[in-house]
Amino acid sequence: MKQSAVIKGLGFHVPERILSNKDLEQLVETSDEWITSRSGIKTRHVVSEGESLTDLSHGAALKALDDAGLSPEAITHILVATFSPESYIPSAACALQDRLGLRGRVAYDISAACTGFLYALENARAILALHPESKILVCSGDVVTSRVNWEDRATCVLFGDGCGAAVVAAEDGGPHRAVIRDVSLASDGALGDLLTIRGGGSGRHYRLGEPIGEDFFVQMQGREVFKHAVRSMTEVCNGLLERHGLTTDDVDMLLPHQANLRIIEAVGKKLGIPGERVFINVDKYGNTSAASVPIALSEAVHGGSVQPGQRVLLTAFGGGFTWGACLLDF
Ligand code: ACO
Repeated sequence: MKQSAVIKGLGFHVPERILSNKDLEQLVETSDEWITSRSGIKTRHVVSEGESLTDLSHGAALKALDDAGLSPEAITHILVATFSPESYIPSAACALQDRLGLRGRVAYDISAACTGFLYALENARAILALHPESKILVCSGDVVTSRVNWEDRATCVLFGDGCGAAVVAAEDGGPHRAVIRDVSLASDGALGDLLTIRGGGSGRHYRLGEPIGEDFFVQMQGREVFKHAVRSMTEVCNGLLERHGLTTDDVDMLLPHQANLRIIEAVGKKLGIPGERVFINVDKYGNTSAASVPIALSEAVHGGSVQPGQRVLLTAFGGGFTWGACLLDF
């Protein structure tokens, strides 16, 4: 039987350190005007020396648990969506499990770049179908700046660090933030070359004593990524709405991956959703990859932009390529 899943609590955590466009003008040949007009980004939060994804996921997890009114001990499963764990072994989920003192819980990572939160929500729904009593901690975040080439002005100005978290459980008549009505996911690895971090993978080994190259950092064909992002997010949103006999008129708020203001505006326009119903915070955080959707969702909910009774459409697109959409009923 299909189990109805709910989000019981939401939270996020970003590093204290803030880099403004003016700060970036000191690092690369760029300007506040160029960054703002091309991306809508004004500031981004970046980790300090020694601060890792585990610090961010721990902060986000505690806030989401508090919002859900649950103690960490209630959690049965820990899922972390990221491409930038503190270490590859142990995984980000195991590191978080240890930090929370939750020995014995199921813990694993999910790799779907910027679509990670939606992939993790679908994993949580699948777990609940098998084990309805589960309480699943979903963390989704990245220290993108650990894989940014600070000499490449075309990419380094776009990204920031952070983590969002949600506690997901079966609907049991108790308090919750939103019902996860449905999730739709997709991928196309044939287009993977348009956005890569090749170095350090098993196809491009680290070798002791050899210097690392530019391919150890984010490399992106920005214009191509832009086109695919707009097309894919629009298609997956329309498909999900159609599956439920809904139109964009039935959506109170579109909450897209915060990669770039122009992508967000283009998706809103193609879907026919006016700007006042599109949530935007990319100006403050930049593109935080897997963290972007849960940070925006948490801000929208706790800031009062979403009210009980409303319907929110999440959508994301990321490296891989991966993309997806999710319908939430508040
Ligand atoms: N400052 C100043 N000039 C710059 C900068 C910079 N930071 N970066 C590039 N330029 C220059 C380029 O060198 C180029 O100069 P040229 O014409 O003399 O060669 C000029 O600006 C135009 O460069 P383009 O790359 O063509 O600029 P474009 O208008 O396409 O904007 C951008 C670039 C913002 C990256 C855009 O392509 C974009 O938004 N792409 C999507 C990227 C994205 O958001 N990806 C993430 C989505 S998926 C995920 O989240 C993982």
